Amino acid sequence: MITDLLRRPFSRRVFTRMLGALIAGAAVLRIPVGAQAQTSSQAPAQRASRNGPVSRIAFGSCVHQDKPQPIWDVVNTAKPDVFVFLGDNIYGDSEDAAVLQSKYEKLGAVPGFQRLREQTEVVAIWDDHDYGVNDGGLEYPSKEASRQAMLDFFGEPADSERRSRPDGIYTSYVYGEPGNTVQIILLDLRWNRTELHEVADADKRTSRLAQDMGPYDASLEPGATMLGEAQWQWFQQQLHVEADLRIIGSSIQLLADFTGWESWANFPADRQRFFNLLQTSPVVPTVIISGDTHWSEFSRIDNSGLPFPLMEMTSSGLTEEWQAISPNRHRVGEAFARANVGMIDIDWSMQPPAVVMQIRGVDGDILIDQMVGF
Ligand SMILES: [Fe+2]
Repeated sequence: MITDLLRRPFSRRVFTRMLGALIAGAAVLRIPVGAQAQTSSQAPAQRASRNGPVSRIAFGSCVHQDKPQPIWDVVNTAKPDVFVFLGDNIYGDSEDAAVLQSKYEKLGAVPGFQRLREQTEVVAIWDDHDYGVNDGGLEYPSKEASRQAMLDFFGEPADSERRSRPDGIYTSYVYGEPGNTVQIILLDLRWNRTELHEVADADKRTSRLAQDMGPYDASLEPGATMLGEAQWQWFQQQLHVEADLRIIGSSIQLLADFTGWESWANFPADRQRFFNLLQTSPVVPTVIISGDTHWSEFSRIDNSGLPFPLMEMTSSGLTEEWQAISPNRHRVGEAFARANVGMIDIDWSMQPPAVVMQIRGVDGDILIDQMVGF
C-alpha cells in the first residue's frame, strides 16, 4: 500500500490521513461474508473493455465547449483509470441535433480532452444542457436525436441498448476482479423526469433568491418521479451486482437539502425510495458522485439506515463557476465556486477498500479531501 501511495501525487498526505484514521479506529467496517452481494442473472452490468484493477477514477460535469479548459491538464497529469462525465458535457441547449453535434465537435477538438480520450477510459451520462434544454425532463421532444448525438460522440457501439431502450440512456460498468471490483452506475435523470414545480408567489421567489436558493418546490403529486418505473426496476437489479465498491453517478445532487435548484430533494418520494433500496439490497460500500451545481462540495448523511454514512461528492464545473452557493444542511466543510474536477482513489489492499475522495482546482490544488469509511 505504501509503495503504491507514494508513487501518486499528494500521496504523502493521503497516506498520513489513512494512518491517522486507522490509529483512531475510524477506518472501515468489514462486510460480513453472508452479506456479500450476489450477482443477479437478471442484472448484468456492462463488462468494461478496460483490463486490470481500477484504482483512480476522476469525474466532472458542466464543461462549456466555447471556454478554455485548463482542467484537463490536472486530469491528464493524474492519469485516472476511468473518467466519468456526469452531464452538461456540452451546453447544447437546442432541439436541433446538428447544433448539438457541432458543439460536441468543439469539445472533441480541445487538445486536453483529446489526450484524455487517448489515455483514459471515458464513460458518460447526460444532464439537462446536453439533453437539449435547461432543466428539461419527460416532455422534451428531441430526446431521441439528443441521445444519438451524445452516444455517437462518446463512441457507444451501434448495437448498444442505450441507443434503443425506450426510457433512457442509464447504464452501468464493472471493472476489476473479485476483491477489487468496482461498479459504476449512471442514472438517467432526464428522460422520464416528471414536471418540476416553481414557487408561484413573487415574495417567496425574492426571498429564495436572497438566500441564494433556486425557484423549485417539491413535486408531491402521485407519480412524480425522476427515474420512471422501468429504470427503478433496473436500478434495483444493479444493486444486486457483485462488487467491492459501488459508485452511483447522479447528474444532479442527491443528498443536498434544500437548495431550491434541481436536486433529488424536489422528488422526495424518489429520494426516499433510493434510501430504501440501498437499505434492502446487499451491503456493499457505496458512494455517490454528482454534478450540475457549478460549485463543488461534500455531503454526508449518517442516518440513512445504512451501516455506514452515505457520502456524496459534487464536482461542478469543469469550466463553470457559480458564486451564489446554496444552503445544504448535509454539507461537510466548505463549498468552492471554482472550476474543479473530482478524484476517487481506491486502496484495494484493504477490505473493504480505503477510499479517498478529493476535489481539485485548475492548478491541481486540493480544495476538498475526504477519507470515506465504510
Ligand atoms: Fe444541469
